[in-house]
Amino acid sequence: MKIAVLGAAGGIGQSLSLLLKMQLPAGSELALYDPAPMTRGVAVDLSHIPTQVAVSGYAGSDPEPALTGADIVLISAGIARKPGMERSDLFKFNAGIIMDLVQHCAKVCPKALIAIITNPVNSMVPIAAEVLRKAGVYDPRRLFGLTSLDLVRAESFAVDKLQQGVAAGQIPVVGGHSGLTIVPLFSHQSGVAPQEADMVALIEQVQQAGTRVVEAKAGAGSATLAMAYAALRFCLSLVRACAGDKNVVEYAFVEGGNPMARFFSQPVRLGCEGVVEVLDYQPVHPIEQAAIEQMLPTLNKEIQQGIDYALHVLRD
Ligand code: LMR
Repeated sequence: MKIAVLGAAGGIGQSLSLLLKMQLPAGSELALYDPAPMTRGVAVDLSHIPTQVAVSGYAGSDPEPALTGADIVLISAGIARKPGMERSDLFKFNAGIIMDLVQHCAKVCPKALIAIITNPVNSMVPIAAEVLRKAGVYDPRRLFGLTSLDLVRAESFAVDKLQQGVAAGQIPVVGGHSGLTIVPLFSHQSGVAPQEADMVALIEQVQQAGTRVVEAKAGAGSATLAMAYAALRFCLSLVRACAGDKNVVEYAFVEGGNPMARFFSQPVRLGCEGVVEVLDYQPVHPIEQAAIEQMLPTLNKEIQQGIDYALHVLRD
């Protein structure tokens, strides 16, 4: 399989590329693209690690050599927020980048599975959908917003809270990937579910986790390492699904299957063509249900912002 990383010279891109070089199955191909000239060097650097994953690097304005023949495209390109910014403040910087890159995907690898990491995810995924639709190649099953980091954090914070040194198991996280739109479902935790006060605190901790990293990095960016790990996890699930494993379930921000919003992060069963089935995440605790209902206007507004932008730019 060929996996392309767009934004490969950035903080997430480099870490993700390293993890992919280490963990993709033997025989995989890893193509790195970033406008920055150093991208070729990143590929040469990685190629010295003795795994059977071939790495190539492409810089400049044309991502198409990296995208040609790609089965999976991971997009982390764009700028990261600084303290005091919301993810939505990145819209004006990153919307054009996503639009351009996805236009190249539509042309060169229209059947690829595309996962978008670039923020604001809640708006970038709808932009990508409209670009692909305009190009006549949109298949909602193949387009994902990456929300795995929220699950990674939920799991980690639950373990900290329990202080039992045991895994809390996967904690579902639904909705979107910004502030209140991130709704972790701690009532689904394996073993003893948290008390209501703990549940409220944990939900807020996951919702604010990205901001805490941005503040702690003090102007030098946002989460790169845990994000790279989360993206690796999601990518390996896609690879497994493509290899024929019929039991691969992930949470991702996808179109369809939810009457509350056109795009929603929810559990999906994966196959080689992307989403095979949207799964149910009910029942949820009343606190979680209230959190879902409360965030829907924000989620739908962020989705609509992406759609409106894309339709406006693609009008001519
Ligand atoms: C995160 O959740 O860490 C990312 O979305 C980056 C950010 O700006 O918070």
